[in-house]
Amino acid sequence: MRAAVLHDLGEKLDIRDDVTVLGPGPGEVRLRVRAAGVCHSDQSARDGGLPQPVPAVLGHEAAGDVLEVGAGVDDLAPGDRVIVNWMPSCGTCAECLRGEPFLCMTHVLTGYVMPRFMAGDLPVFGMAGCGAFAEEMVVPRIGVVPIDADVPYEVAALVGCGVMTGVGAVVNTAQLRPGDTAVVIGCGGVGISAIQGARLSGATLIVAVDTVPAKLDVARRFGATHAVTPDQLGDLVTEVTAGEGFDYAFDVVALPQTLRTAWNAARRGGTIVVVGAGRAEHQVEFNPFELLFEGKRIIPSLYGSAHPPRDFPRLIALWRAGRLDLEGMVSHRLRLEEVDDALAALGRGDVIRQVIINDGA
Ligand SMILES: NC(=O)c1ccc[n+]([C@@H]2O[C@H](COP(=O)([O-])OP(=O)(O)OC[C@H]3O[C@@H](n4cnc5c(N)ncnc54)[C@H](O)[C@@H]3O)[C@@H](O)[C@H]2O)c1
Ligand SMILES: [Zn+2]
Ligand SMILES: [Zn+2]
Repeated sequence: MRAAVLHDLGEKLDIRDDVTVLGPGPGEVRLRVRAAGVCHSDQSARDGGLPQPVPAVLGHEAAGDVLEVGAGVDDLAPGDRVIVNWMPSCGTCAECLRGEPFLCMTHVLTGYVMPRFMAGDLPVFGMAGCGAFAEEMVVPRIGVVPIDADVPYEVAALVGCGVMTGVGAVVNTAQLRPGDTAVVIGCGGVGISAIQGARLSGATLIVAVDTVPAKLDVARRFGATHAVTPDQLGDLVTEVTAGEGFDYAFDVVALPQTLRTAWNAARRGGTIVVVGAGRAEHQVEFNPFELLFEGKRIIPSLYGSAHPPRDFPRLIALWRAGRLDLEGMVSHRLRLEEVDDALAALGRGDVIRQVIINDGA
């Protein structure tokens, strides 16, 4: 089959047609990938911003059809339509037992040491144990969530990372309530999803912030009540919150400067939600006085604090009810050969979510 292989960090992807997928072993499922969204985390894995052993097939936001099930998988059959859950929970580790499945590292760590593919005779890892920039992939049973066959693959793929992460940050992590106010920094696929989550949760002010002016128009289309560049945010805080700041500040970039912007934009007692996947070599400064006396909380939102078997069907139901615009988030449909261009285009004004479509037999 065809797959895009990253041989070394920072390199272009090598589109090959001699790749095979390993498995499915017991408890695993082999899929035909039909649609794979291009998330900024793929770019970060490629350039070393997120840990990634190589060679690797990147891609983790995906939907497709079951081709084959391994021994012991008795609740899925070939032909079933599924969304990939890139952070499947094992059910037995300390985090799972505490009811925090989105902190389970069991399967992700397995993905770091167990190749998922062979390219000729070269073993190849899958990003986070996935590897969606390929025609097929193998994941554990808990790494897929079945959905109805009428959900378009591209809509389903987006639910698998960007939408779950952005909407989940608002609904699950922050638990924003009607009447609350929010600022969202970074308006890519994840940020636009956070804006949609804030809208459906009843936020009265939803301020979008992005350095790229064209993104501000996109943000308004998806429910932002105001949209500004970072340098304009201070004046807007004065204007719309009388200088108080927002109940929630979602940082969907997570650079040192955006974390500072998020901190400053949150009201006294407000909450900063870290959604962006920042780099381990960056350092962020907060002084002890502000950490105590401003009464703010900084909380992480990994995968939108999701429990995918519970949350993917809820997101699909919200989409069916017309409360989430997912088709509108698909800004480009590309072929596997174009995945490098898609990674390079991240952050461009006209990009919301680019989706790699595999419509081969
Ligand atoms: N928490 C999680 O589990 C999780 C899951 C998926 C993605 N992520 C992370 O979320 C982030 C966003 O992902 P995405 O796919 O939406 O990315 P994207 O590239 O599509 O969008 C990022 C947006 O941020 C804007 N931006 C960049 N620097 C900025 C700055 N200094 N100030 C304001 N805006 C700025 C860009 O113009 C762009 O519009 C990435 O860090 C990604 O790795 C986290
Ligand atoms: Zn992602
Ligand atoms: Zn676990």
